[in-house]
Amino acid sequence: PTTRYFHFELKVVKLSPDGFKRPVWSVNGQYPGPLIQCNKGDRLVIRVTNNLGDPATIHWHGIFQRETNWYDGVPGQTQCPIPNRITFTYNYTLEQSGTYWYHSHFLAQYVDGLVGPLIVHDKDDPYLHSYHEEYVLTVSDWYHSPSAPLLVQRVAPHYTGGNPYPDAALISGVGQYNCSSPTADYYCNPNVPPPTYNVQKGKKYRFRIINTSAYAFFTFSIDNHPLQVIEVEGTPVKNAKAAKVKVLPLHIAQRYSVILTANQPIDNYYIRASIIDSCLGAITNETINGNSSINFNATGILHYHGAGSKKPTSTAYPFTFPLCQDLNANAIRPYKDSPAPNNVTDKFVFSVTFNLNDDDVGLLGINNSSFVPTLNNPTSQRIMLQENFTDFDKDQNAYGYDTPYGCVQITLFNNQTANHPFHLHGHTFWIIASGPGVTMANISTSKYNLKNPVIRDTTIVPANGHIVIRYIADNPGVWAFHCHIEWHVELGLVAQLFERPTEFSNRTLPDDVRALCMEYNSHKKQKR
Ligand code: C2O
Repeated sequence: PTTRYFHFELKVVKLSPDGFKRPVWSVNGQYPGPLIQCNKGDRLVIRVTNNLGDPATIHWHGIFQRETNWYDGVPGQTQCPIPNRITFTYNYTLEQSGTYWYHSHFLAQYVDGLVGPLIVHDKDDPYLHSYHEEYVLTVSDWYHSPSAPLLVQRVAPHYTGGNPYPDAALISGVGQYNCSSPTADYYCNPNVPPPTYNVQKGKKYRFRIINTSAYAFFTFSIDNHPLQVIEVEGTPVKNAKAAKVKVLPLHIAQRYSVILTANQPIDNYYIRASIIDSCLGAITNETINGNSSINFNATGILHYHGAGSKKPTSTAYPFTFPLCQDLNANAIRPYKDSPAPNNVTDKFVFSVTFNLNDDDVGLLGINNSSFVPTLNNPTSQRIMLQENFTDFDKDQNAYGYDTPYGCVQITLFNNQTANHPFHLHGHTFWIIASGPGVTMANISTSKYNLKNPVIRDTTIVPANGHIVIRYIADNPGVWAFHCHIEWHVELGLVAQLFERPTEFSNRTLPDDVRALCMEYNSHKKQKR
């Protein structure tokens, strides 16, 4: 194992990922941020210098952070925000391997561009010798407006519209916006070259695909090339027939590795990433129809060596699975048999709820509790939470459990008409049930799949449906469990799970984590 050092400078720069120029909240001036590559067992030391003009934090999505809960990057839960012009160093070891990503967890900054891929290689990866080269590819929705005004609108009292609607789809930070639209009233380049991935006939390629969206469910496909799924969110999957797919569904924060075999005639083929807007729910049709330039299909090019530069003529695969759902479980059974524990020591039953607060702001929550104390000033929300940091506030949608080494079961009901991609920090979980029905009566415990359930860290909770998940409580700390639609996070659809609080409270916070809070509080005072 090696220690690897990185320096992230967070700064706002002007970029035009889809041709339309806007300020982008970037890491080192790049969108997506720099690719972090390392090996299982390595230590990452990442100095983050914040020059955004606003506080920020970085979360390492999917990384367990065992013994280092304070580097999980959730403001108000695990750390104080990094004030402007301050440097804070994240420092943690990687016991996992696979495809991960990092993003700001402060307000909606990641919607503005603060995201990047994090890849952990493993010399024991069962598929290591099944491909010649690999590519990392992100798919994302993209907004032309910075998130702050969208957020203010979204959390306004009496607001009845849906979530802010994206303007474009991107592959690896590149899209093609139709600049002739009347809304494109400043610099816009209608001819951004599509991202191109070079292959050689006869070789095999691993593509790691990450959905870094704020809102969008995506389908991903490469014309004429079925994809063999080999990894889901860090877990290698069985080499099953069902794992060969033509169209891959990815909700927000989900990741897959697939193997593509370059066995087609030498040519160029389209790579397609499409936002399936019917999966987003609560959309006002006017917004879509009024904006004819929305490009919901980002395209890239799979270029065979020797094919020349002519445009592809390939056609898209039809969708052959129910939309808005996770990939069929049979396609992603863990490579190593990994049954879920039979016995459960803690059980939580959660429901997604919707309530108007005193100001008539429609808040989402879990069991009628929302993780947002005030919405009047979005910038102050997390600052208020932060004041509760030192003694983790039980009023803030918090669930503590002290069972040492127990197995936790969460049943989550979603009686809304749209699905929610839920993510658990600090763990992977077994999905032992997922389906329609929003009461206990709809769940038959005898049908739980404990034998060979799917393992992930982010899963869709179907509209008018439920999931039942289990995980091992072997990681003391405060862990967020939340819908990854960023607009829903801002409306409070976040629970805090305080795992083994007694044990965690006995740990000593590192000096730099403490110092950051002192720094943060003094900055706050100076501002006043
Ligand atoms: Cu990507 Cu709280 O998560």
